[in-house]
Amino acid sequence: MKKNPVSRRSFVKISTASLAALSMPELVSAQPEAPQQQRTERQPADPIVAQPGNADAFTRYFFDSLMLESRYLDSDIPSTKLELFGETFDTPIMTAALSHLRVPNGDGLVIYAQAAKACNAVHWFGMGEDKDLEDIIATGARTIKVIKPHADNAEIFRRIKHAVNAGCFALGMDIDHSFDFKGNYDTVLGLPMKAKSTAEIKSFVKASGSKPFIVKGVLSVSDAKKCLQAGCAGIVISHHGGHLKYSIPPLMVIEDIVDAVGGKMKIFVDCGITSGFDAYKCMALGADAVSVGRHLMPLLQNGADAVANRIKAMTSELAGVMTATGVHNLGEFDPSVIHRVI
Ligand SMILES: Cc1cc2nc3c(=O)[nH]c(=O)nc-3n(C[C@H](O)[C@H](O)[C@H](O)COP(=O)(O)O)c2cc1C
Repeated sequence: MKKNPVSRRSFVKISTASLAALSMPELVSAQPEAPQQQRTERQPADPIVAQPGNADAFTRYFFDSLMLESRYLDSDIPSTKLELFGETFDTPIMTAALSHLRVPNGDGLVIYAQAAKACNAVHWFGMGEDKDLEDIIATGARTIKVIKPHADNAEIFRRIKHAVNAGCFALGMDIDHSFDFKGNYDTVLGLPMKAKSTAEIKSFVKASGSKPFIVKGVLSVSDAKKCLQAGCAGIVISHHGGHLKYSIPPLMVIEDIVDAVGGKMKIFVDCGITSGFDAYKCMALGADAVSVGRHLMPLLQNGADAVANRIKAMTSELAGVMTATGVHNLGEFDPSVIHRVI
């Protein structure tokens, strides 16, 4: 992988206050920007100044700071087919692990799954009851069930067994929901959570048998290596929508994670993806596939076709960027296409 990952490449323009906040010495030498009031409407608000600690805002800012060089020669119409765990999908743009989706026109969780099925995309499902999972799987969507880090491991093993028997495509755990960020273990809808050790994750991998087990909520090389050690089939680089204030954008750490575990496990990314361009940037920097959550949620009230059409449109946009950068299929991404400009 590159010696100069995007996370460490210098900004061309960023406020000196922001640079100090980033604690990146190589950035401090950049030119100070014009005062805030002189910004034009086209300039994105600097979230470090405007919204300190807002991981979602900085994630958006970071996506937009990455620009693409073009590579037209020898390019052609690309394939966006995704090969994952022995199955083929039409797009690397997946749904995200959501839960409790209430919409006036029916069960939002089922509509979301129908959408994934309609565009032959991988579907993810988060917290919910056994019956919810069964209803989702009945849509035919190839579903990855994400189990919460319940304090009671017996409940986790029970849920793993249910997910396997129900016909899940894969399963996993969102490890970033263990704490309440006030120094305690979290409680989610009355259910107590607890942090898990690498050994416990290993036992969940074992209990999943032949089904791939994926840890969601990885935002460090350290956790990524432990997941590999535990035998996980993949990880989701994610800050769970800014769950922890000051979380780094997933793309700031992806290249280091790829260097550490790439090729040995699947690497997925979520948080703030709203276009085929965002998806492209994730994949160019090493993701195998990406998930989209909140961007799709408002479309649920318009039905599964509306959600599916948005996933298809994002996939077309991704394909469009692939044509302009000489990428013929999902195995050909090259991180050197990406340049960090702000
Ligand atoms: C309504 C809602 C429910 C969610 N429920 C879960 C969940 O049960 N399990 C989980 O791992 N993540 C859950 N998430 C987090 C998402 O999977 C995802 O990490 C996060 O929303 C960031 O992606 P996005 O910016 O595309 O929405 C939920 C997010 C939302 C908005």
